[in-house]
Amino acid sequence: MMLRIAIQKSGRLHDDSIKLLRECGIELNNGTKQLKAAAFNFPMEAYFFRDDDIAQYVADGVADIGIVGENIVQEVEEDVEILHKLGFGSCRLSIAIPKTVNYNSVRDLDGLKIATTYPNSLNKFLSKNHVSADIHTISGSVEIAPGIGLADAICDLVSSGNTLFTNGLKEVEVILKSEAAIVVNNHLEEEKKRILNNLLLRIKAVQTARNNKYIMMNAPNHQLDNICGVLPGMKSPTIVPLAESGWSSVQSVVNENDFWEVIEKLKSFEAEGILVVPIEKMIL
Ligand code: PRP
Ligand code: ZN
Repeated sequence: MMLRIAIQKSGRLHDDSIKLLRECGIELNNGTKQLKAAAFNFPMEAYFFRDDDIAQYVADGVADIGIVGENIVQEVEEDVEILHKLGFGSCRLSIAIPKTVNYNSVRDLDGLKIATTYPNSLNKFLSKNHVSADIHTISGSVEIAPGIGLADAICDLVSSGNTLFTNGLKEVEVILKSEAAIVVNNHLEEEKKRILNNLLLRIKAVQTARNNKYIMMNAPNHQLDNICGVLPGMKSPTIVPLAESGWSSVQSVVNENDFWEVIEKLKSFEAEGILVVPIEKMIL
């Protein structure tokens, strides 16, 4: 039995999706040029789709799970749920208009024709703001719509803002914020759920490792209590005596978020020769 995963064929999420699987020890065999690729060493088959289609394919059971923006799930609203956020692919769904057009408030959207691949999310936003605009649903290349006279405005994903900039558009309203997530079909067979749990364990290990660093240092013994106080580690720090009497080597794990604060304190407690190394996987 194989778990079928849908991945973006090309675009914002593609590279990070493949990288995540690789860090989970899953290599896809015939590259990503094909529609489909089996994994060498994990019961998984990857399908490459346009990101906008992934939630629908997962809802329909064409794929079991997918890596896609959370925003796309909101667009589909059926038989598919967000299981786990992945911490990459952050972007926002926004409304943009030609940069030469004046804009003061959401009222200025009244009566405009807005091109989008996300009609449901746009419709919700417009109704909430009591704006009546003409939603023009298209399947891609939304950003060129105003330039060719197909629409007055667009509603599309913005990440770096490059696409808007190169098409002479400016962002005027943010509808929602999104990041990549594992989405899953609500009716998975038990065997597939088992494979999925295994995958999730690996993904969490990779994510935890990314957020933590392994740290080693030498410290005078009379400071060990102070040093252990700022270094909780997974259980408690490892302390090994050095050949030089009165000194020890201390090893622990530090969270990326408190990293510099911890380093400052360690220095004030006379720690020396501090080494910091990345962690590849971390299973708690
Ligand atoms: C989205 C969106 C823009 C681009 C915006 O495309 O439709 O084209 O990303 O990113 P930027 O602000 O960094 O330029 P996506 O990657 O979803 O590919 P798609 O066009 O195939 O849907
Ligand atoms: Zn897209």
